[in-house]
Amino acid sequence: MVRARDGGGERLRAEPGSARREPKGALAGRRGEGGGSRGNAGFPSALMILGIETSCDETAAAVVTDDGDVLSSVVSSQADLHARYGGVVPEIASRRHLELVAPVVREALAEAGVSIDGVRRVAVTRGPGLVGALLVGLSAAKALAWARRLPLVPVDHLEGHVASLYLEPDPLEPPFLCLLASGGHTLLLAIRERGSSERLGTTLDDAAGEAFDKGARLLGLGYPGGAEIDRLAREGDPGAFPFPVARVAGLDFSFSGLKTALLYSVRDLGEDEVERRKADLAASYQRAIVEALVGRAREAAERTGLERIAVVGGVAANSGLREALPEARFAPLALCTDNAAMIGSAARFTAALPYPSYLGLDAYASFA
Ligand code: KG4
Ligand code: ZN
Repeated sequence: MVRARDGGGERLRAEPGSARREPKGALAGRRGEGGGSRGNAGFPSALMILGIETSCDETAAAVVTDDGDVLSSVVSSQADLHARYGGVVPEIASRRHLELVAPVVREALAEAGVSIDGVRRVAVTRGPGLVGALLVGLSAAKALAWARRLPLVPVDHLEGHVASLYLEPDPLEPPFLCLLASGGHTLLLAIRERGSSERLGTTLDDAAGEAFDKGARLLGLGYPGGAEIDRLAREGDPGAFPFPVARVAGLDFSFSGLKTALLYSVRDLGEDEVERRKADLAASYQRAIVEALVGRAREAAERTGLERIAVVGGVAANSGLREALPEARFAPLALCTDNAAMIGSAARFTAALPYPSYLGLDAYASFA
């Protein structure tokens, strides 16, 4: 569901995703009862988790249940605000999060039809990301949890992306090989159980999403560039330009050479020719990124003996990648780019900090 926010020009995207497999009335009946049952006496009811995500340029809040149902997922993207700078400006992002976090949380609760009284845990992204941006979400989450004497679950953003696969209506069970490709990270992870992962490979320079964004910039497309290249690539010939696919040792990735190759092509072709062949350039550039991701993911699956491949993160939305890995399981489209439903989902498999032990908790910018 996509809605325009009145007067603000801001996109407020509310995606119920898998939500509401039950009639709303059934859920409403249990709300605010501090538990109840799912029709099975003795079993704990669907407990509500409020998730908050502010690690980059999306202010997001969601309500998910302990069972993995998404009752609401609201994402307010700041992309338009940063577009004129060609990338995220950290200070602007923090300020905007500050303005948006309360209305977005309110919207998520309203969308789910729950009051704050029905929430049993608050989950929030603690890192990695922009520290100023993270601190806004973390402070809001602490304040909410503290005021309600609730436990707080600090969630790692990358664990969050993986946990986008654990939501209803089609949750994935480990073991699987996970390719996490976003604007900040490109990782190959062995997932043998929910809530933990083993890192098998990473990028030595740019992340895959970053490569898309930088390529888009070279082609004069908008920010964020991944979706723009994706769209344009559909009209182009992926074989038109033989952009290189880097081969680095182990299960790592490298995208900086590819970006340089595009830069040289753009320079050599000249403005008019670039304009005329933009779709071919986009398609060829995307093909090279996709080939690198698919090749390494399959290699990792083979080496580890993990039979299933799953793909998460913003780049998992790429249609070329989806086509090139038909055997893989992709995160639902609405949950590929940053959102809070995945944070709520990860909280189901992460230890909660009891009230009020979390008040001194800090954010972290990069992962260890
Ligand atoms: O996961 P995400 O929202 O944020 C991070 O955690 O970084 O990923 C954002 C990245 C951006 O680089 C964006 O260009 C890329 O995901 N992206 C795409 C597509 N949609 C978003 N890349 C390729 N094709 C897409 N359709
Ligand atoms: Zn992300």
